[in-house]
Amino acid sequence: MQKKTVAEILKEATARLAAGKIENPRLDAEILLAHVLKWRRLNLYVNDEKILPLENILRFNELINLRLKNFPVAYLTKTKDFMGLSFAVNENVLIPRPETEILTEYVGENLRGSGGGIFADLGAGSGAICISILKFVKTARAAAVDISAEALEVAKFNAEKFCVADRINFYCGDLFAPLEGKFNAIASNPPYIPTGELENLQAEVKREPKSALDGGEDGLNFYRRIISDAPKFLVSGGLLAVEVGINQSAAVKNLLEAANFIDVEILKDLSGIDRVIAGRI
Ligand SMILES: C[S@@+](CC[C@H](N)C(=O)[O-])C[C@H]1O[C@@H](n2cnc3c(N)ncnc32)[C@H](O)[C@@H]1O
Repeated sequence: MQKKTVAEILKEATARLAAGKIENPRLDAEILLAHVLKWRRLNLYVNDEKILPLENILRFNELINLRLKNFPVAYLTKTKDFMGLSFAVNENVLIPRPETEILTEYVGENLRGSGGGIFADLGAGSGAICISILKFVKTARAAAVDISAEALEVAKFNAEKFCVADRINFYCGDLFAPLEGKFNAIASNPPYIPTGELENLQAEVKREPKSALDGGEDGLNFYRRIISDAPKFLVSGGLLAVEVGINQSAAVKNLLEAANFIDVEILKDLSGIDRVIAGRI
């Protein structure tokens, strides 16, 4: 194989990804090459004339081939940044999304404001929400619930990685079923895609676990269940905050108000889309 520089390798890979209709071909190529080389992306520019060892080029080409089959970049690098922390991820967990930082910050700030306490994260997945909150609110403790034992393994790994494992209990089960006692707050980013829309999702989203996406016929199944059971698990004045999908905020706000939650608030994401609904009991 002909010797190639970093710049040449990136140019070729970018062209292949672009031909394969991958949305951000240059960015993805850079992230994957930096991952293979264990470099920061900036170093690709500083060292763009460097000739790379064959084994690095072969590994990079393998990853580019997987990216062309719509494997998400985060599943290839096995990491995703969330709240400034580099979370471990794999195919058993939803890749944490930037908009979920709104729910995380909101619940974290509320807990911090009331001196900490214990909160539940329903559908914890990689642990992105609960672990970030614990990292930034040192006086908080968490119960992380997920129906997927494989997802909880990833969350446990992340809890160790970010040194919060001593303040978190993990429960494998169905929403509130494994929980006992009362919580100061409940946070959840549940599956919320209507079942009929799953087949229209982007090819790379389809690589994420269906159980992390499928919200039932109208996408609202988990909100109905969480909102109807939450009052039994919240202290008086306790907070329930959930992330919602596009066009779901009005229905979820109605559910909260019908269940006697007060001070119901809607928070928007950076695109102006209603993203979090919260209320107190
Ligand atoms: C949208 S993902 C959210 C993951 C993570 N909290 C985040 O925000 O990145 C939803 C999670 O709920 C879990 N889940 C699905 N059904 C559940 C159930 N009945 N009880 C508990 N967790 C469930 C899925 O396994 C998945 O990890």
